[in-house]
Amino acid sequence: MTTAAPEPKANMGQPIPRYDAVAKVTGKAQYAADVPLARPAYAYLITSAIAKGRIESFDLSEAEKLPGVIAIVTHENAPELKEAKFFSNGGYISTTNQPLTSAEIAEEGQIIGVVLAETYEAAREAAHRVRVSYTQATPTASFDSPGTTAARAKGQLAMFKDDPKVGDFAKGFAEAEAQLEASYETPTQHHNPMELFATSCVWQDDQLIIYEPSQYVHGLKNGVATQLGIDADKVRVVNSYVGGAFGSKGSMTPRTAIIASLARDLRRPVKLVATREQGFNIGTYRAETRHKIQIGARRDGKLTALRHEAVELSSRADAYAVGGAKTTTRLYDRPNVDSLVSIIRADRNTPGFMRSPPEVPYMFALESALDEVAYRLLMDPIELRRVNDTMKEPIGGKPYTSRSLMACYDEGAKAFGWQNRTPEPKSMSDGDWLVGYGCATACYPTQMAPAAARVRLQRDGRTRVEIAGHEIGTGAYTVIAQAAAERLGVPVEQVSVFIGDSDLPPAPVAGGSNSTASTCSAVMMVCDQIRQQLFRSVMPRESVLDKAKETVGVGKTPVTEAAKGDQPLDRETAFDALGVSVVEEYGEWKPDGAPIDSFRAMHNGQMRMVGGPEFKHGIAYAFGAEFVEVRVNRWTREIRVPRLLGAFAAGRIMNPLTARSQLMGGLTWGMSSALHEATEIDERYARYVNDNLADYLVPVNADAPSVEVILLSEQDDQINPAGVKGLGELGNVGTNAAVCNALFHATGQRIRKLPVRLEKLEV
Ligand code: MOS
Repeated sequence: MTTAAPEPKANMGQPIPRYDAVAKVTGKAQYAADVPLARPAYAYLITSAIAKGRIESFDLSEAEKLPGVIAIVTHENAPELKEAKFFSNGGYISTTNQPLTSAEIAEEGQIIGVVLAETYEAAREAAHRVRVSYTQATPTASFDSPGTTAARAKGQLAMFKDDPKVGDFAKGFAEAEAQLEASYETPTQHHNPMELFATSCVWQDDQLIIYEPSQYVHGLKNGVATQLGIDADKVRVVNSYVGGAFGSKGSMTPRTAIIASLARDLRRPVKLVATREQGFNIGTYRAETRHKIQIGARRDGKLTALRHEAVELSSRADAYAVGGAKTTTRLYDRPNVDSLVSIIRADRNTPGFMRSPPEVPYMFALESALDEVAYRLLMDPIELRRVNDTMKEPIGGKPYTSRSLMACYDEGAKAFGWQNRTPEPKSMSDGDWLVGYGCATACYPTQMAPAAARVRLQRDGRTRVEIAGHEIGTGAYTVIAQAAAERLGVPVEQVSVFIGDSDLPPAPVAGGSNSTASTCSAVMMVCDQIRQQLFRSVMPRESVLDKAKETVGVGKTPVTEAAKGDQPLDRETAFDALGVSVVEEYGEWKPDGAPIDSFRAMHNGQMRMVGGPEFKHGIAYAFGAEFVEVRVNRWTREIRVPRLLGAFAAGRIMNPLTARSQLMGGLTWGMSSALHEATEIDERYARYVNDNLADYLVPVNADAPSVEVILLSEQDDQINPAGVKGLGELGNVGTNAAVCNALFHATGQRIRKLPVRLEKLEV
């Protein structure tokens, strides 16, 4: 005898304002370095001034004399740590070049000492008074340095599976009516999140609490425990908010275990806030890449052959590669495909994930090359993509779970005014400005990973959701609250969300754009367990079983279906019938096709991400079409970008407000990476030169006056219960190529090496 309550208002998909907005704008939001500590010692890093060689001696006399200095730690007296396995080989750490273990120097900026002092200022001053004598060797800086050799990526790291190929490329290319062969290059880039690499370590007896911005609290917890040789249950990582990350805070860096062990020895909390300059070396970055693309096509635009050969740079210690040919070889229909990814080792720090790791550099090459093919064939670049659009990837013949690429192009083109474009290069102008329109495809694999959640519903509707997800600025709090609100039929204002704490049920790394899909799927499943509990008290037995079958445990049951069957539930009646005031449930969710050891790995802080080209039900990607207008001044060559526009389809959009912000940020970043961003390297010393926000160019509002985002509706019931594809990394994938394609249209000049600065133009 339930009295019908009003249908709960749908929450998922609504433009709910950001959960954490008030906390952030009022300054209440506490970031890792904001957490007050009792009587902390301050740490300041001493870093290497050379990139290769060895330390002969330290002169600490001037530093030790300073008042307030507690200790100076070098490889000669550092606490010993255990080794941790490389992140991309199934471990935790961002680099296996573990500092403070010997006198050897393997990269510029390597940590060679830590000063501990009573104040930050004393620690900094002492660090600058340390004199280091080195024996210096000539480092290998980059691709063109002497002494480099390229070796195939396959076999060097677990994350890189294979070089995709199909058919007979040589034959397909030779027989093509049009052939293109071109080389492209992308530069070194650093993430530069606003929040610096901070770490505070506090011991309470044998328990360690780490306040550190992290995209993966369970990974960090387990990684630090490994290095300290203690039980992971003794370690807790806390960060309610992360001030930007973009991949740089996805894996554990060596600094954390070092600070933790120093705090243990000192029996005091230790706080480190590394400087922005140091962050260029003690974290990861996007390494430079080179690409050779060969495309064969028929006169009607049909592609007959593609070869994508790429070289990436990594450190001596670790073979890291992003390997984006897995995407570029599958994106369009063509019978003959070949690819090869190689790695060159240099005396540099180990690179790592940076927003859209594989797709940004690799799609720049492919989408620039396609534009070149379109000009050769005198075809509209959108039509060229339409002719080669496919619902089946060519390598394994797997169907796309859904693909709205051409719908994105059509919507985007209409909104952008693509029909006003005259195709010939240099054919459009406005006074002193040459005008160019360009477009390119954005795509990003749909990825998911196992996640656990605990949800508590009170009789009055107040709900508490616990899941160790991460708010890296993306809107994680908001979408998790929406998922719970919808499944429990409570107003979103009644949902409290607790994330960013490794004491909470484990969730995957907030990387690979998997967070919303994974955390919301887990939260929805646990909310359904709660509904089951409640229904059990008010529904006949058989019906409960039906309901259970319908909503729980079957990972791929579409949400819409599951939600539909519910009769309106009066929550309070159900609670009364059950005789309780609170129902709490815990559950562990894993995506279809997740490996057998998924849940164990999840608790151990190890990634078991599935999706993309290797998804169980096909190939799963989100798509977008990006449009750029550039203006180049005829006399000064000044480049302006008055308009950026992207149309995107990424399954269910949980929240159009936060999604739009992500995609705007992506488009802006993509434009920035085409025109502004690059880490400049002094080749003589293998040293990053512009390691600060004054010299590392990023755009300001005046550089991006109009950024428009169009969200297409798309339903995909195969990917995960939330129906979410993920879009955090989708926005900046096509933009590099779209900018260069627009520049070609404006000037007739094809720039194949990023970033495009005005000295590269010859108009
Ligand atoms: Mo992203 S580069 O996977 O944080």
